[in-house]
Amino acid sequence: QEHEDEWPLAEILSVKEVSSRKLFYVHYIDFNKRLDEWVTGDRLDMKKLQFPKKEAKTPTKNGLPGSRPSSPEREVVSIGKTLPTPVQLKSFFFFFHKHMIISPGRKRKANCGGTDEDSQDSSDGIPTAPRMTGSLVSDRSHDDIVTRMKNIECIELGRHRLKPWYFSPYPQELTALPILYLCEFCLKYLKSLKCLQRHLTKCNLRHPPGNEIYRKGTISFFEIDGRKNKTYSQNLCLLAKCFLDHKTLYYDTDPFLFYVMTEYDSKGFHIVGYFSKEKESTEDYNVACILTLPPYQRRGYGKLLIEFSYELSKVEGKTGTPEKPLSDLGLLSYRSYWSQTILEILMDLKPDNGERPQITINEISEITSVKKEDVISTLQYLNLINYYKGQYILTLSEDIVEGHERAMQKRHLRIDPKCLHFTPKDWSKRGKW
Ligand code: ACO
Ligand code: ZN
Repeated sequence: QEHEDEWPLAEILSVKEVSSRKLFYVHYIDFNKRLDEWVTGDRLDMKKLQFPKKEAKTPTKNGLPGSRPSSPEREVVSIGKTLPTPVQLKSFFFFFHKHMIISPGRKRKANCGGTDEDSQDSSDGIPTAPRMTGSLVSDRSHDDIVTRMKNIECIELGRHRLKPWYFSPYPQELTALPILYLCEFCLKYLKSLKCLQRHLTKCNLRHPPGNEIYRKGTISFFEIDGRKNKTYSQNLCLLAKCFLDHKTLYYDTDPFLFYVMTEYDSKGFHIVGYFSKEKESTEDYNVACILTLPPYQRRGYGKLLIEFSYELSKVEGKTGTPEKPLSDLGLLSYRSYWSQTILEILMDLKPDNGERPQITINEISEITSVKKEDVISTLQYLNLINYYKGQYILTLSEDIVEGHERAMQKRHLRIDPKCLHFTPKDWSKRGKW
């Protein structure tokens, strides 16, 4: 790894030759896949090359993505241990394009329109289940390797250039481009600047589709129905997948709502981040996937998105929790949000007739809409729970109080519930979303 003295174990996923120089695609074992990269041979210690042991073959499950059977490719190219099968994130749907991995032999027309401009409409966006059809059902291993590697070099989105962290199922013919151009308002992808410019003369969106349900200062939230705005929702998911590393099922966008957060300037409402939410969740999920686009990360927008998701739950009169598994950064952000939210409540408690103030876990959960389990895990994480004279008490040390006050002074971005104009729908009464 560059700028490191240690030589971590890495798995070689692929080898290619560029200008007669060999390049190796490596995944650093025990590191997040974000760090995977193409390296030159001098960055590998070939003396330590390990060949994987033969594993018992697991049968391929037709049509079920996500499981990772041992595969011939993996056995040939990988070094180091085989990673465990990742847990599947239920509701990040993967709608593979018909011309992607499934049928690499087929080519599309090469002009702007032919590649995908015309096909990003709802008729072509219908999710397909490629693994159910065609020959690749029996060649899952190839897909497996492909989807483990970043496939898009760079995305231009408005005034930002983004470097994807993970694979995203954009059409295969676009993966060879040095830059993929996105319309920052409708999120349509185009293969060149010229195509984008042509698109911009026709595209009159200056904000995401759907209803603006929140505005304070320059921050707005738009609610988008995955059924009514299919193309936008799918394009949003393609972009989001570049930064979300979850194995996925082929879900349709219909069952989801998308809450897109924007920042306004004279040119329009620029996307900062979003979260998706199932219209109906039997598991009390109030967020399916959540993302702050990299140029905006680590500036408090993630917690703003999270705060917004709980404000929606408060209006719905429900408690909620994010869909599991959380990513490493997702866990950090939620932990931080839960800790601050719960400490805010505890520190506001007033003594009860000169007695210690009292509050139950249920009350904290009702006030915050944070699911009970998450309240408990946060109290444990903060190490606040003590057993004293036969009862549980919460002890706030000076360190905790001071740390909390310092953190809250830095938390400038907050949701103002007065600016939210949202009426929840009872989707269960609507038949089909
Ligand atoms: N390293 C260390 N800490 C971090 C990092 C990082 N790279 N990124 C965020 N944090 C911490 C921050 O320090 C902050 O905690 P603090 O205020 O107590 O210091 C907290 O996480 C939140 O920071 P924000 O600035 O509010 O969050 P951000 O805008 O960066 O967004 C998010 C967080 C959404 C998780 C972002 O990192 C992201 O989009 N990641 C990629 C997608 C992803 O992993 N999403 C979550 C998947 S789980 C799910 O979808 C349910
Ligand atoms: Zn557009």
